[in-house]
Amino acid sequence: MTNLCDNISVNAQGHLCFAGQDTVLLAREYGTPLYLMDEARIRQNCRVYQTALREQFGGKAGALFASKACSFKQIYRIMEEEEMGIDVVSCGEIYTAKAAGFPMAKAFFHGNCKTDADIAYAMDAGVGYFVVDNADELQAIDREAAKRGVLQRILLRLTPGIDSHTYEAVNTGKVDSKFGAAIETGQAEELTAVALQEKNLKLCGFHCHVGSSVFAEDVFERAAVIMLTFIAEIKEKYGYLAEILNLGGGYGVRYTESDPTIDISKKIADVAAAVKAACAELKIERPFICLEPGRSIVADAGMTLYTVGSTKEIPGFKNYVAVDGGMTDNPRFALYRSRYTCFLANKASEPADFSCSVVGRCCESGDILQENVSIPRPKRGDMIAVCTTGAYNFSMSSEYNRIPRPPVVMLRKEGNRIAVRRQTFEDIAARDNSWDT
Ligand code: LLP
Repeated sequence: MTNLCDNISVNAQGHLCFAGQDTVLLAREYGTPLYLMDEARIRQNCRVYQTALREQFGGKAGALFASKACSFKQIYRIMEEEEMGIDVVSCGEIYTAKAAGFPMAKAFFHGNCKTDADIAYAMDAGVGYFVVDNADELQAIDREAAKRGVLQRILLRLTPGIDSHTYEAVNTGKVDSKFGAAIETGQAEELTAVALQEKNLKLCGFHCHVGSSVFAEDVFERAAVIMLTFIAEIKEKYGYLAEILNLGGGYGVRYTESDPTIDISKKIADVAAAVKAACAELKIERPFICLEPGRSIVADAGMTLYTVGSTKEIPGFKNYVAVDGGMTDNPRFALYRSRYTCFLANKASEPADFSCSVVGRCCESGDILQENVSIPRPKRGDMIAVCTTGAYNFSMSSEYNRIPRPPVVMLRKEGNRIAVRRQTFEDIAARDNSWDT
């Protein structure tokens, strides 16, 4: 019925199935709105990266999961079992990973504004690598390492000046960026020179991240060549050879059937060819290569289920189908006009001849999940499924309008588990103080 992802199907009752399980039964059991995660798919996506990296680079490469895409304890357990490293961007993510027992030596701490308190927290937590964004931060990390008498491992975040042909909000590899130090302006070299002098820092290499939802042909290959050329120049001028080159994340995923499929194994082979050729030409030893995917690890492992509250037909305009969730559990259409594929989950075999906008329940006109959706005409109580919601949905959710966040149910062959329980009204109001005037 759809070729979006092979974990989506329809059963004999005409019910949409996800990871082989009937979504109507899942909604009945756990309520809606509901985030579903297909654990086998997450693991499979990790293995595609790890296998291809191993094959292409021998032991000298590895994948880190960019946990901003989806952060809760069970995800970090899965990442540990799949032998992935992690990218963390806040003390909240560090706390969660550590609480899940993740080996923090395999964590890379990102972010363009790490406070002194963040730096101290991350060091106490045993974070392996700090990915340093700027000179202010570099010095702050050196000071904190000095206080503790430790030699802190760092990478420097650089901007290779590539336009990844993606939408502006997540395009981070250009020179004009709030992230990192630009190679083109000489600031990357300056930051490197300072880093090499700091007594309490061990410079392990360089990082770049050219953007997110990248489909363009050779973005990573071009980034790799620019970064390796920089590495060779630094070796020449300062006698320092980088051990690690982290090329960031960013491969796009299919949100709709018209999106292209990215063959990650093939892409990694292309990157490997570019890296090997550049290292040979530049006459440098090949650094350990890291990739840092977020979306392509978890996006197609996720689906969100909703219950229809109303269907409104405005003659001469359009039709609205309102559901019991919205921008609070998925702000991505409101923020980026992101495309999604929707199904009427309890009538998935009926003709999809009703065109509508699927909207949320928030008091805000921009609370739209998707426009131009074709589904069978829904009635109150029917179920809508939005596919490919595993990345940046739960992690970007909010409690706007004091709407509780949905639970995350991990679908597993060994038995489903609630990875994150539904937020309660008590949770929402737990931090509020009241006092008499
Ligand atoms: N590494 C770094 C340093 C990053 O900043 C990011 C994403 C990644 C890795 C992972 O990129 P991915 O493989 O997931 O594309 N909220 C937006 C996405 C923001 C991405 C930010 N950085 C969205 O919902 O599309």
